[in-house]
Parts: sequence; structure tokens; C-alpha cells
Amino acid sequence: MDRRKFIRRTCALCALGIAGPALLLESCQKIDMSPQGPTVNFTVDLTKSSYSALKASGGSIALNGVVIVNTAGSFIAVAQSCTHNGCSVSYNKAGNDFVCPCHGGIYDTSGNVTSGPPPAPLKSYTVTRSGNVLTIAG
Ligand code: FES
Repeated sequence: MDRRKFIRRTCALCALGIAGPALLLESCQKIDMSPQGPTVNFTVDLTKSSYSALKASGGSIALNGVVIVNTAGSFIAVAQSCTHNGCSVSYNKAGNDFVCPCHGGIYDTSGNVTSGPPPAPLKSYTVTRSGNVLTIAG
């Protein structure tokens, strides 16, 4: 290899060494880490039999793309669709968390990822109670 070829190849490798990590960082910055889920505003009448699961602590239902859970008399709600590939998460009473059956993603009760491949948290919703009616919004 002559001197000129050696310098060209060395410079090309140096450019890749600098550009490679920069491109990788740029692609990482494009991942949306904000909580993800639908925008909703609906009510749930706890006296209806279809929502009876919410009467017991640890009970949960899925409605309108949202999982609603009775946690010892208060209520929480998060988006149902896993932020990894969109499988439906469900509430796990034993762990007091939300689990995704597809690839083992786990979220805490605020929707934050605690384990597995999900790239972003689940959106959490405001739940207000007026008598036997819950309003889920967010
Ligand atoms: Fe939920 Fe993959 S779709 S962890």
C-alpha cells in the first residue's frame, strides 16, 4: 500500500469512528420517551354489574383503552396498550404492577417501566370519584 492510499483509508476509518457514535446518538434521541396512551374522558358507574370487579380491592377492568384498578379503595388508571408492541397490559394484584404478556414488560402503578423492553411509560389518568361514579380523564 502506498502512502497516499494508507492516509485515505486511515482518514475514512477515523471519519466512521466519529460519525458512527454520532449517528447512533441521533437515532436514540428520536425515541419518544413520553408516556403513551389515548386521550380519554369517560365515566364508570360502579353500580353496574359489568364493572363489579372494581368493587373489590385489587379488582380491575379494561375499558376504552384504559385499565382501571381499585387499589385499597382508591382508583388508578393507565393506558392498556403496551408501549413496546401494543399488547394489552393487565393489572397484577400480587406484584401491584401492570404486566405485558407478550415480552414480559412490567410497569409500576404510575405507568413507569420497571422491567422488560417497553421504551416508554404508560400514560396514567386522573380518576375522580363522585358517589358511585368514577370519571377517568387525561
Ligand atoms: Fe409489551 Fe412487548 S408488547 S413487552
